[in-house]
Amino acid sequence: MSVYQATASAPVNIACIKYWGKRDTKLILPTNSSLSVTLDQDHLRSTTTSRADPSFEKDRLWLNGKEEEIKEGGRLATCIKEMKRLRREVEEKSPSEPKLSSFAVHIASRNNFPTAAGLASSASGFAALVSSLAALYKLPATPSELSLISRQGSGSACRSLFGGFVAWEMGSAADGSDSYAVEVAPQSHWPDIHALICVVSDDKKGTSSTSGMQRTVETSPLLQHRIKNVVPERMKAISEAILAKDFDTFARITMQDSNQFHAVCLDTDPPIFYMNDVSRSIIALVTEYNRVSVENGGKLKAAYTYDAGPNAVIYAPKENLKEIVSMIIRYFPQAEPFKDPFGLFANESLGSGRVV
Ligand code: DP6
Repeated sequence: MSVYQATASAPVNIACIKYWGKRDTKLILPTNSSLSVTLDQDHLRSTTTSRADPSFEKDRLWLNGKEEEIKEGGRLATCIKEMKRLRREVEEKSPSEPKLSSFAVHIASRNNFPTAAGLASSASGFAALVSSLAALYKLPATPSELSLISRQGSGSACRSLFGGFVAWEMGSAADGSDSYAVEVAPQSHWPDIHALICVVSDDKKGTSSTSGMQRTVETSPLLQHRIKNVVPERMKAISEAILAKDFDTFARITMQDSNQFHAVCLDTDPPIFYMNDVSRSIIALVTEYNRVSVENGGKLKAAYTYDAGPNAVIYAPKENLKEIVSMIIRYFPQAEPFKDPFGLFANESLGSGRVV
């Protein structure tokens, strides 16, 4: 008897130009294009195994060992249904292929980081789910084609199908067929850029992205200005900066866009607050660090960005990482030990700090 099973994993991505707002909530079509960096570290990933078997009675899913309900017509059900549809196309073209599309699937997914802490677990989760089903079903689909489906699980998940620097083109078709992710540049184009994740809090966040952005679309006049007059130019400028490896421009736009995203949250009625005092102190620290560099004739050395939670992500060229980590540890002594995957502080005494 054959076993039909496949495993795939996908990393978290962190947006520099934020996706915030849907023009179609069912198909998950955004009100603006967005751009992110996919993190390639092993400790921020979802890994998913999918199995199809004629003895399975219904589709089931376990997340971190706990079974989750697959609600009819919900996002999980939509992704699974769409993947089975693509499998059926394969079976119709090659009648000798086993009829996996008619079997139920069991899916087990695991994140190696706190779920729903504003660390984009839905992005890596749906990307890994779609990738594992694509492997199980031996689909000939490209990452952009698969991104059309992971997008319907969680918008930001379409960008985790690629590594490196990734744009989600908003598209204009009503059926969403041109709203997918494309690679701007692979990670190898600019390997010098690193992301430092400062876990300010790993509590589950207050307002989910889905409900928060819906409220913003309904109530924020500033969002309309952002969509029409701000994001299109930023998308172009940051893509060019990435291609030119121009960190100064990349950093400036990334920080401006994080700030404007949080400004539209504040412009929402009632307002949404994702950052806390520690988040704002980290902004002040990075701002001061950059100011000193620029005043001495240098360039920007780091860029902060915040998603729908208080945790900071700091992008920086590798040569600045040690200085940045030392600075953060000095100002934010924390309970948990600092993880040092690059050996930046090998043989040095660090004190304690909580920076992943
Ligand atoms: C602030 O992709 O989680 O991280 O499509 O409703 O699932 P849904 O939202 P989600 O929103 C992510 C918002 C963000 C910005 C971004 O990643 O671009």
